[in-house]
Amino acid sequence: MKFLIDTANVEEIRQIHEWGVLAGVTTNPSLVAKEGRDFIETLKEIIDIVDGPISAEVISTDAKGMIEEGEKLASLSKNIVIKIPMTEEGLKAVKHFKKQKIRTNVTLIFNANQALLAARAGATYVSPFVGRLDDIGQDGLRLISEISEIFAVHGIETEIIAASVRHPVHVTEAARRGAEFATIPFKVFKQLLVHPLTESGLQKFLADWASMKKE
Ligand code: E4P
Repeated sequence: MKFLIDTANVEEIRQIHEWGVLAGVTTNPSLVAKEGRDFIETLKEIIDIVDGPISAEVISTDAKGMIEEGEKLASLSKNIVIKIPMTEEGLKAVKHFKKQKIRTNVTLIFNANQALLAARAGATYVSPFVGRLDDIGQDGLRLISEISEIFAVHGIETEIIAASVRHPVHVTEAARRGAEFATIPFKVFKQLLVHPLTESGLQKFLADWASMKKE
């Protein structure tokens, strides 16, 4: 499983990119609004940092509008992936972009049938929202397993992005269950790398080394 960062904050992207683990970026209208900056300018800065898929979401709700918006966004870079909501109009737009060889990420996926429809319409990626399902008392990770199984059984090449990731267990389990990507908030990236025994082990190594030099 590869790592994407789920943010529109350029500084967060820069920091995780420095770790050498970042395969790409996902944004959504809420994340962009949170930063309060121009969307296109933000995307241009992200494009300069990350050489990998960068999902940029359309806000139109009709296929024609999604196509117009998506074509403008796609003209920014070959790395831009058009993020499209899982709706009837969204599927029409996905079909169009497939013909244009423009990659799409179908977002707001909450069941396996939605994922299968998106895949058959030509989506490059589907984004099942794990955390938001957990929030309403459903098993978000189980959805990753279901989609993964269905895509494998039917030889579907659409890739799974585990989205709405809230904590490190979501990351481990998404990887175990076959998601090709997880899109992870900055805070969760920071949680992934820490373990109390790593920290205490390092302190002990350094203390032992310092005591040896004194002898
Ligand atoms: C998916 O690509 C979305 O940007 C994101 O993962 C949504 O996460 P949330 O449920 O934490 O808002």
